[in-house]
Amino acid sequence: MSTEGHSRDALRWATDAHYEDAERYDRTYRLRRHDVAFYREMAAEHGGPVLELGVGTGRVALALARDGHDVVGLERMAPMLAKLRARLAKEPAEVRERVRLVRGDIRRFSMPAASAGGTARKAIARFPLVIAPFNVLMHLYRREELEQMLASVRAHLAPRGVFVLDVRMPDIRSFTRDPERAFKCPRLKDPTDGSLWDTAEIFQYDAVTQVQMITSTFREVAEPHRVYVKPLAHRQFFPQELELLLHYNGFSIRERWGDFERGPQHVDCETQVIVAGLRRATGGRRRTTR
Ligand SMILES: C[S@@+](CC[C@H](N)C(=O)[O-])C[C@H]1O[C@@H](n2cnc3c(N)ncnc32)[C@H](O)[C@@H]1O
Repeated sequence: MSTEGHSRDALRWATDAHYEDAERYDRTYRLRRHDVAFYREMAAEHGGPVLELGVGTGRVALALARDGHDVVGLERMAPMLAKLRARLAKEPAEVRERVRLVRGDIRRFSMPAASAGGTARKAIARFPLVIAPFNVLMHLYRREELEQMLASVRAHLAPRGVFVLDVRMPDIRSFTRDPERAFKCPRLKDPTDGSLWDTAEIFQYDAVTQVQMITSTFREVAEPHRVYVKPLAHRQFFPQELELLLHYNGFSIRERWGDFERGPQHVDCETQVIVAGLRRATGGRRRTTR
C-alpha cells in the first residue's frame, strides 16, 4: 500500500457500501445487545434528549425511546433511515413520537432548538447526552473531519453534558496479516432464516493513514452461487491518540472502559468505551497542559 493510502472515493465507497443493505445490517446486528444495555444506563444517568450520531437502523435509539427518552438520530444513509422508519412504524405512538430522524452528516451538523422557530438568531439544540455507538467515529478518516465533528458535538452539548462513544481497540495482529490472503472466519448463521454462510476476510492496513480495509466474502452453504462481498474501511484510533484528539478539541475523558461491562482497557480488549465531558477552562492565562 502506498503512503497516500486509499483514495477518498475508495473510503467513501467502503463506508457507504456497508450500509446500503440496511436489511442485512439489521439482521446481522439484531442480537448485539450488550452495548445497548450500556447506552441505556448512560441515558438513565444523564437524561435526555439524546442525540445519536450515525443512528443506523435504530438498534440503540429504539431502546432509549422505549425507556422514555426523546432521541434525535442523525444519519447519512437513506436505506438505514428507511429501515429505522419501518421499525418505528411498528412501535406504539408514544415511542414513535419520541424519535426524530435527521438525514445529515455527522462531520458537520447544526440542530436548531425546538423553540427557536421564529427567532431571528437560530438557537442551537443542546443535549445532556450525545452518543456515537458501535464504531461510528471509525468512518471519519481525516483530522479535519474529526475536528469538525467534535466542534459540532461541542456546540450541541449542554454545559454538564457528556459525549459517549465506542471504537474498536486496534488489533495489532490483524495489521500485519498478508493482504493477499483470505482468512476463514467461523461459519455464520442468519438469525432470521437460519441459513448458514461461509465467510472469509481480507485485511489491508495502511500504517500511515491508520485505515484498515476489511473485505468480507459471504457464500451461502446450501446455495454456493449466492455470494456477496462487503468492504469496510475503519480508521483505527490508538488510546492515547483518542485522548489527544478529545483534549485538543475541548473535551476531557471522564471514564474509559475496555468493554461495556466497565472492564479495564488492555491490549486484547475489543472496544474502547469513552465517556467525555467538556473540558473546563482553567481560568486566568491559558496554560500548556503537560
Ligand atoms: C456501525 S453503524 C452504527 C449504527 C448504530 N449507531 C448502531 O449502533 O447500530 C455506523 C452508522 O454510521 C453512519 N455513518 C457513517 N458515517 C457517517 C457520516 N459521515 N454521517 C452520518 N452518518 C454516518 C452509517 O451510515 C451507519 O449507519
